[in-house]
Amino acid sequence: MKQPAIGFLGSGNMAESLIRGLQETTVCLPEKITTSDINEIRLAYMAEKYGVQTTLHNRELAQKCQVLVLAVKPQQADAVMAEIRAVLDPEKNILISLVAGLTTAGLEKAGGLPLKVVRVMPNTPARLRAGTTAFCLGQYAGEAETLLTHMLFEPVGIVVRVEEALMNAVTALSGSGPAYVFHLCEMMIKAGRQMGLSSREAEVLSVQTILGAARMLNETGRPAAALRAEVTSPGGTTEAALDYLAASDYQEIFIAALHAARDRGQDLTLSKPEE
Ligand SMILES: NC(=O)c1ccc[n+]([C@@H]2O[C@H](COP(=O)([O-])OP(=O)(O)OC[C@H]3O[C@@H](n4cnc5c(N)ncnc54)[C@H](OP(=O)(O)O)[C@@H]3O)[C@@H](O)[C@H]2O)c1
Repeated sequence: MKQPAIGFLGSGNMAESLIRGLQETTVCLPEKITTSDINEIRLAYMAEKYGVQTTLHNRELAQKCQVLVLAVKPQQADAVMAEIRAVLDPEKNILISLVAGLTTAGLEKAGGLPLKVVRVMPNTPARLRAGTTAFCLGQYAGEAETLLTHMLFEPVGIVVRVEEALMNAVTALSGSGPAYVFHLCEMMIKAGRQMGLSSREAEVLSVQTILGAARMLNETGRPAAALRAEVTSPGGTTEAALDYLAASDYQEIFIAALHAARDRGQDLTLSKPEE
């Protein structure tokens, strides 16, 4: 695919992760990337660290770049869309939005055109190029936009296409997912300390255990239940812990927590009318 000019509207954490991924995998040359922001210091950092072009003016960026990545916070998105609306060209521009809760129909309306829109949900491990990105297409986007999304997001991890109706479920699972694992880690460290380990020992043991378990899941390709059964000897220590958990409602509570995250996403989506 010919390298399009890519513009990032907002130069925060996620824009930086993506730009780093594109550069480390040499998918995109720095001169093909422009970023905008309201913060001059942030732009100077991006120019210095990644050699990208920068601008304080979103409209200028939208005129210059074919692919526009909307990478501002949800509460900033309306203002940015209003700013660039007049210069958007449906023949030229593709809008890729990272903004949680904004639907493709809402983005198409905000663009004021039959704009090609892709709605994307990445997650924070993208910073280490170990991310999970799900995306769905707007009504005017097609195969070329699918290929483009893979090109932009595969440098920072895996990419999965889903129906838009599932985007809030994806947000609950992989978008918020790192936080659940961090929380598990916090609890393991706390338990380790309570049982007499130093903070450092509890931390090292917990972190490496989570890393090793994740690698086993990924690299053996075996189901989580099978791997769990393998370390659970009858009458053993693991079984004692798992029996204790099974005697509580923790499974139902954990699953209900993810439903709560999905429902919150739906509330946020509904609170953003599509006009
Ligand atoms: N980080 C993640 O893991 C993650 C995961 C999934 C989805 N997302 C989505 O990705 C989007 C960006 O997240 P982020 O974590 O990268 O946010 P962030 O670090 O806050 O980046 C947003 C950047 O945009 C700047 N900005 C604010 N108003 C602007 C405007 N009018 N024009 C241009 N730039 C403006 C902000 O400046 P100030 O800081 O000065 O306001 C900030 O530098 C969000 O919508 C979020 O929902 C993020």
